[in-house]
Amino acid sequence: MQDRYAVIGNPIEHSKSPLIHAAFAKQTGENLTYAKILGNLKHFEQDAIGFFQQGGRGLNVTVPFKERAWRLADSLGSEAQSAGAVNTLVALPDGSLRGENTDGIGLVRDLTINHRCLLSGSRILLLGAGGAARGVAGQLLAQGPERLFIANRTAVKAQALVQRLSRQGNPEWGGLEDLAGQQFDLIINSTSAGLNAEVPALPDGVLAPGAWVYDLMYASEPTAFVTWGRAQHAAKCLDGLGMLVEQAAESFYLWRGVRPETAPVIAALSRAGNNPR
Ligand code: ATR
Repeated sequence: MQDRYAVIGNPIEHSKSPLIHAAFAKQTGENLTYAKILGNLKHFEQDAIGFFQQGGRGLNVTVPFKERAWRLADSLGSEAQSAGAVNTLVALPDGSLRGENTDGIGLVRDLTINHRCLLSGSRILLLGAGGAARGVAGQLLAQGPERLFIANRTAVKAQALVQRLSRQGNPEWGGLEDLAGQQFDLIINSTSAGLNAEVPALPDGVLAPGAWVYDLMYASEPTAFVTWGRAQHAAKCLDGLGMLVEQAAESFYLWRGVRPETAPVIAALSRAGNNPR
């Protein structure tokens, strides 16, 4: 029988994870199936546990269940622990569930390997302090930037995230208005503003010469933040497609012990979405 995997979220219809994992399985010769599950907001836990009781080997967990998966897991990887969120559940041989978070690794691999962006020694601004920011902040700190500033519309939430990271380092925090007069080499948007075609209100001049912008969101059209970056003449404007594929590859590796090649999958999705990078 083929090993069973799935992604669970709500909504889930537009998830690209089944396509990505099918491509990884084909490429590596791993014998598995990967489905989409529409998680029920009332009983996500039963849905997830039921999947594993019926022989499922691993789940990807997406919005809005990542925090609930964190509570559900019997043990946690260090990334998941610090993020307070789980995007990957692994069935261990003893029947317990291990929670991992591959989002931060996915972002860092996309930036540093696919795009050869040097994070060490750079000035990074992370916009937003919600679940998406929690998933990536620890990994960004681990790259040894000159500074990491976490800015949020509601400043106290950025402060809370920074307190959460205190064991890993000492990022700065503030409100968006605190960014006036500051400059960064890389601005990463983790806010959900783009869902309403908005961008966080940033002061002029916040991009240093040659700076890059990166939107964790992905869409078949350029996202609002990518469009903003282009208008500001950022040297490179990236959306989250590469991160999406890289976090999937890390999950695949955790489940199967095999690391798939991501470049052909990113290229194929990019062509299919008519959104060349
Ligand atoms: P997610 O899990 O996607 O991170 P979330 O936890 O609801 O979602 O967090 C959403 C983030 O986007 C928050 O940082 C939010 O800022 P507030 O904490 O001030 O609400 C940010 N956000 C949403 N819309 C925004 C907008 N129009 N401008 C700036 N920030 C915005």
